[in-house]
Amino acid sequence: MSKYLKTPQHIAFIMDGNGRWAQKRGLPRNAGHQRGIKALEKTVDACCKHGIKYATFYAFSTENWKREKQEIDGIFSLVRDYLKDNPDYFSSRGICVKHIGDISAFPDDLTTQLTSTEKSTAKNNKLILTLALNYGGRDEIVRTFNKLLGKGKKVETYKEISAQLDTCFLPDPDFVIRTSGENRLSNFMMLQLSYSELYFPKVLWPDFDENELKKALKIYSKRDRRFGGIK
Ligand code: IPE
Ligand code: IPE
Ligand code: MG
Repeated sequence: MSKYLKTPQHIAFIMDGNGRWAQKRGLPRNAGHQRGIKALEKTVDACCKHGIKYATFYAFSTENWKREKQEIDGIFSLVRDYLKDNPDYFSSRGICVKHIGDISAFPDDLTTQLTSTEKSTAKNNKLILTLALNYGGRDEIVRTFNKLLGKGKKVETYKEISAQLDTCFLPDPDFVIRTSGENRLSNFMMLQLSYSELYFPKVLWPDFDENELKKALKIYSKRDRRFGGIK
């Protein structure tokens, strides 16, 4: 359990800096993504250890299709293998795997693996591990608009919208951690982050680990959230 006074229930990670990590070492970008998956594994472990209930990881954005095919295929293989190689790991720790984003554009082997992992871990409830895959906040809004239009009913409250978002099974993130020192959200959960605390450490994602998470949790525990009210 966490020793921090205030622990976020839901942390959303923008895993950035894999390319620069590889570049610094004269390695291909995919070597950075490979280490990025290792950092993801370590972070999931650390989240379990520190009592985080929901951990969401931005793994592939709707804008990442602009990259070279080789890099994209490499990312897809890494995600597929991460899910395939860890069935016991997820279940032994009570991890439920979910996704947000439009996965219909993905290769069959990845969607099949993802669906199978989601199904086999569905009953676990210690940590909800959500992968944002082909996810973009704006794309999610467009898809949600169309769902609501299909219902032909006037929307009265934000709750009716949020119930149709990809994230309908998640509480809003309390804390967003974007690594690599970039101070932006890059189309990540634009509605859901309205009141989230933001943190932009310089560490590149492949170097993120339990120690970095602890630093982040310490920073979060000192934040004063007011949600528009007064203290
Ligand atoms: C984040 O690392 C991973 C993905 C976007 C898939 P990057 O690949 O964006 O790494 P940098 O930003 O080029 O260093
Ligand atoms: C955001 O990182 C997307 C993911 C981490 C999956 P990017 O590297 O794609 O974002 P920009 O291009 O720097 O804004
Ligand atoms: Mg980047």
